[in-house]
Amino acid sequence: MRTFTNIFITGGAGFIGSNMIRYLLSKESGFSGRVINVDALTYAGNPESLSDIAERFGGGPAPRYVFVKADIRDRSAMERVIREYQVDAIIHFAAESHVDRSILGPEAFVTTNVLGTYTLLDVARLYWQERYGSLSAAPVLFHHISTDEVYGSLGDSGYFTENTPYDPRSPYSASKAGSDHLVMAYHHTYGLPITLTNCSNNYGPYQFPEKLIPLMILNMQEAKPLPVYGDGKNIRDWLYVEDHNSAVWTVMQKGRIGEKYNIGGENEWENITLLHRLIDIVAEETGKDPEQLQSLITFVKDRPGHDRRYAIDCTKLKTELGWKQSVSFEEGLRKTVRWYLTNSAWVQHVRSGEYRTWLEKNYNQR
Ligand code: NAD
Ligand code: TYD
Repeated sequence: MRTFTNIFITGGAGFIGSNMIRYLLSKESGFSGRVINVDALTYAGNPESLSDIAERFGGGPAPRYVFVKADIRDRSAMERVIREYQVDAIIHFAAESHVDRSILGPEAFVTTNVLGTYTLLDVARLYWQERYGSLSAAPVLFHHISTDEVYGSLGDSGYFTENTPYDPRSPYSASKAGSDHLVMAYHHTYGLPITLTNCSNNYGPYQFPEKLIPLMILNMQEAKPLPVYGDGKNIRDWLYVEDHNSAVWTVMQKGRIGEKYNIGGENEWENITLLHRLIDIVAEETGKDPEQLQSLITFVKDRPGHDRRYAIDCTKLKTELGWKQSVSFEEGLRKTVRWYLTNSAWVQHVRSGEYRTWLEKNYNQR
């Protein structure tokens, strides 16, 4: 089993990255080293998501949690951090992550997701080569976080496996596919020790409320329309964020170098059916009238190029590394609803001017 001392996490102020840091610094992970969180704090990054972690682990002579505000496209900043903290593992979460934003403004997706990933790979390669001489035997790891969206769109049947050819169809998924190819190329060409995971849709606490589940929960609270794209029959495979984290950690410790592993919930839902279930849970948790909540459902113009169905086959991860999901959809949705209902300060702060501008830009024209 691989062990690490100084884990450099990019995008740790975002949804999945912040949950990963929380997980790594909990007893459950068994990790006893230091986490260096590097994040540019775009609209999606919120250091408040880790304020308790910073308080518990960020002080004293040997802090186990360090935050550095920096952009992954900034080569000299990346070099500085990697050297200063003698990084031996990188978990690369930082990305522009929202499909609708990629349709309305693709440039940041190309620069952050493709160029930013290239910058990190190259800085890691040179630093580790200098430190260990040979990269292929170096006790280091670059773990790249990717998405099932790189595989494209499924019809009514079939699943994405690790051998499914890439067929990205949005600027977001195309830029993530580009980053995946670069990661593999750095492994094959330079011997950089990498692992890569492609995960299905995540949900849980600290997700920015532009994504389906938190957007719907917050709109229900305010009795605002619940915008369903197209016919509402697009299918996603949902995974609770903590199960994503445990899968990533399993791959980092035990996965084969140079391999990719799919991570999924084995939990497919049509958007509209999911929304009805979410309405029932919000009604139960708040005492609101479910029929009134149902009446807020509004079918709106579809997303251009809207992928119909995603479904992950994660047999490789389960059989080879013994990982499995631990949170049922019912339990995960309820935990998520309760989290958004009780963390109103976090919610109020992320609903900044930028968030309001986004809602106008994305929904007013539909
Ligand atoms: P997010 O949008 O919530 O967070 C992204 C974080 O990256 C933010 O903190 C942001 O400030 C930071 N960031 C963006 N550009 C940066 C830059 N140039 N330099 C430094 N930091 C920058 O995203 P998320 O949902 O947590 O997704 C994290 C990763 O997981 C992404 O790579 C995404 O493609 C992947 N992923 C997400 C899902 C999902 O359902 N959310 C599913 C599979 C894979
Ligand atoms: P999203 O959370 O944006 O994730 P992704 O597109 O990366 O899978 O959307 C999940 C599904 O919900 C997707 O099919 C689009 C749909 N959707 C809506 O119907 N209405 C909305 O307001 C949003 C944000 C998404």
